[in-house]
Amino acid sequence: MANPIFTSWKPEHSALWGNVPLRLKHWLHQHELFSRPALARLIEAAPKSNYMLIETGRPNERKLWREGEIGSLSGTEVIEAIDSGRIWLNLLRVNEIDPRYGALLDEIFGELEGRMPGFSTFKRINGILISSPRAQVYYHFDTAGQTLWQIAGSKRVYLYPPTPPFLTPETLENVILYNNETGIKYEEWYDDYAKCIELQPGDMAQWPLNMPHRIENADELSVSMTIEYFTKDIRRSLFVNGANGLLREKLKLSPNRNLSGSAVWAKTAVYAAAAKSGLLTRQRNKRRPITFKLDAAFLAKPAPLASARSNPAPVAQVSSLDNATT
Ligand SMILES: [Fe+2]
Repeated sequence: MANPIFTSWKPEHSALWGNVPLRLKHWLHQHELFSRPALARLIEAAPKSNYMLIETGRPNERKLWREGEIGSLSGTEVIEAIDSGRIWLNLLRVNEIDPRYGALLDEIFGELEGRMPGFSTFKRINGILISSPRAQVYYHFDTAGQTLWQIAGSKRVYLYPPTPPFLTPETLENVILYNNETGIKYEEWYDDYAKCIELQPGDMAQWPLNMPHRIENADELSVSMTIEYFTKDIRRSLFVNGANGLLREKLKLSPNRNLSGSAVWAKTAVYAAAAKSGLLTRQRNKRRPITFKLDAAFLAKPAPLASARSNPAPVAQVSSLDNATT
């Protein structure tokens, strides 16, 4: 394999992928698509539908979570503002903004498919997270396969077992149904049972499906790439858990939570029908309001008082397989 993206892959990683938290090496922090000028151009090219700008609190402070939009600043100025603030910029689906990032995504999965025969994915998207020193992503989990690639700065990922009390079946089902992660419970003592992965530029992390996690930046600007993907098994999990949630919430039943067996196909049909009917879309939260604009006036103001939600949703790509037919 000429110039592989994964530079520390061992044969055992093919068996471990998706089953335990992994930290692997890559060289994308040296790739031209992740240079500061390239990132600045990407920011300037991103329409509002392709980014989330979030102001967050410092660790150990009352939680703050406000969504804003980029004002008149250049891409370079936006990065400088993030470097000196408490802000996340999540560039969503960068493969849509610039096809070169999509080509990179294809290259990564082409390599993974070569290393893991039978590994077949769809609905793949990549995003780029640019975040302030000491910024954090609060406790949450994702409903698609995830990888996190560190490009600049360093961060610590805390990973928790995807089982009660860290994640209950009801919470999993509710998040799938309502795309609303505010109900996820987190206690500080959970950290005693977490696995910590330190990410430096050139490290990437991958972990089992639905594993709850939270992330703390070190005291420096952080740039990461996130990749989200589905496999048939991940899609089955999404459909079955979504259907179980519907049966529990709407019909007050106690569903069997097996991910195999004859009921799986019936549940897949239940969930697919609910998604097609628009039922799920209507039940999900409306888009959060924009409450600040990142421009010269914002930078001149003192930081606002922390307020808002008790456990904010994470900065993540919003995944949905409601219309998946693949
Ligand atoms: Fe996540």
